[in-house]
Parts: sequence; C-alpha cells; structure tokens
Amino acid sequence: MGLEGKVAVVTGGARGIGAAVARGLAERGARVVIADLDGAEEAARTLRDAGFEAAGLRVDVSSEADTAAMAAAAEDAFGGLDILVNNAGIYSSLTPKPFAEIDPAEWRRVMEVNTLGIFLCCRAALAPMTRRGGGRIVTISSGVAFKGNPFMAHYVASKGAVVSLTRALATELGPRGILVNSVAPGFTLSDGVLGNPTLVAGVKEPSLRNRVLARDMLPEDLVGAVCFFAGPDSAFITGQTLVVDGGAYY
Ligand code: NAI
Repeated sequence: MGLEGKVAVVTGGARGIGAAVARGLAERGARVVIADLDGAEEAARTLRDAGFEAAGLRVDVSSEADTAAMAAAAEDAFGGLDILVNNAGIYSSLTPKPFAEIDPAEWRRVMEVNTLGIFLCCRAALAPMTRRGGGRIVTISSGVAFKGNPFMAHYVASKGAVVSLTRALATELGPRGILVNSVAPGFTLSDGVLGNPTLVAGVKEPSLRNRVLARDMLPEDLVGAVCFFAGPDSAFITGQTLVVDGGAYY
C-alpha cells in the first residue's frame, strides 16, 4: 500500500479534509498522529476502532510549544516522523468581506495559523525527519492562491505564501532528503464549510458552475494527491503544487 512503517502527522486532522487525509494515509499503511485544536483524540480513537494505528494530540499550530510537543509525540508514540501534512488552516470560519473591512487582528490570526503555523510545524519536524534520513512534507494551499478570489484577501494572501514557502523549503530541505510539495484544493464541502451557511450560499453554486467535472468536491477527492506526495511514487518531485479542483475555469 506504499506507506507501511511510515509515521505521519496530520494537522487539523480531526475533521474535514484533514480527517479524510488521515484515514487515507492509515489505509495505505501509515501510523498517524492527528494534531488538532479540537477533537484530536476522538478522531484518533475512530481510526483505532477501524483497526488502524493512530494517536491524537491537542495542538495549536500557531504555538511554538505545541508544535514541538507534536513532533515529540510522534517519536514517543511511533518511534519517528516521516510525513507531515500541514492541513490545519482558517478558512471555513471566515465571512467573505471587502478587503478594507478586514480587521487587522483577523488578518494577523489568519496569517498566524495558515503561514506561521506551517513554518512552526516544519521546523519542529526537521530534527525527527533528519534522524530518519529524510521525509515528506505536504502543505495544503488553495486554488485561490492562483486565482486571487475577491473578499478573502487575508486568506488568499496566506495561501499564496504557502505556495512560496513550499518552494523555499523544497530548495533548502532537498539535500536532507526531505521533499516538500503542496496540494491546492478547489472549493470542497468539508465539515467546516458545511457548517458555514454564508460560505455555502456564496461559493458553492459559482464554483460548481465553473468546474469541468460538474459535481460537488468532497474531502476524499484530495486524498490521492496528498498520499502521492507522501509516498514512493513522487520520489523525484519537490517544490510543486498540484491543483485538485475538478478542472476549474474562471
Ligand atoms: P475544516 O474547518 O473542516 O477543518 C479544519 C481543521 O483544522 C479543524 O479540525 C480545526 O479544528 C483545525 N484547526 C484550525 N485551526 C487550527 C490550529 N490553529 N491548530 C490546529 N488545528 C487547527 O477545514 P477544511 O475545509 O477541511 O480545510 C482544511 C485545509 O484545506 C485548510 O488549510 C483550508 O484552508 C484548506 N482548503 C480548504 C478548502 C475548502 O473549500 N474546504 C479549499 C482550499 C483549501
């Protein structure tokens, strides 16, 4: 199945895209640590009940102490860290608004979680991955990084930074055998999105209309791409961003 013996950490893995990815990695043989602000242990228990090896830890990815504890927990629980999926992000709780109405505190919090959070998680994973002789880092960016959608300037900017950070880390970490790639989803009906009626009302219909594959996109649609970058089939690919959006045309 490709990931036997590997240890994976999935941030924001308790629900939505992260939960689907955590399950996909487990199905391919990885032992999984779910790191989430909320519901991590419960999500890990669900995976264990399904017969997989999993652990859960409450982590705020924007906290240096939490991200250090996250890397240590992977080594304690499963003896190492091979795969880091930087999925945690603020999106579904945001209310679209003109850029001039974005409060600077909200701007900072989006950046803190979506960009600083990835920096901190990657930094925490560096020593454990180096001890394993290499590893895989997958970031979850977004199609909006390329399209520049209106009314979410903070979010769009944060995801553009994720794409650039992915390339920067790929150049630095390649010599250590750590490959860094990104998956950029289109509008996905995740748990968080489904819980935000304003977002569903504003984005679902236009994104469906502008999609070649004319159906709703679900978290499961992203699992293959993330597992590809986490596994042996992408052994000579780094610094890349794969857009998974059912063929959006705008
Ligand atoms: P979601 O809201 O369903 O789940 C996000 C998870 O991240 C939650 O379990 C939440 O507790 C956790 N989380 C949030 N802040 C955290 C923090 N500071 N530390 C640790 N965990 C934290 O979100 P969804 O839709 O599954 O999104 C996952 C990722 O995919 C995000 O990075 C998002 O920006 C990105 N994305 C989502 C798209 C969508 O349409 N759903 C489209 C493009 C990208």
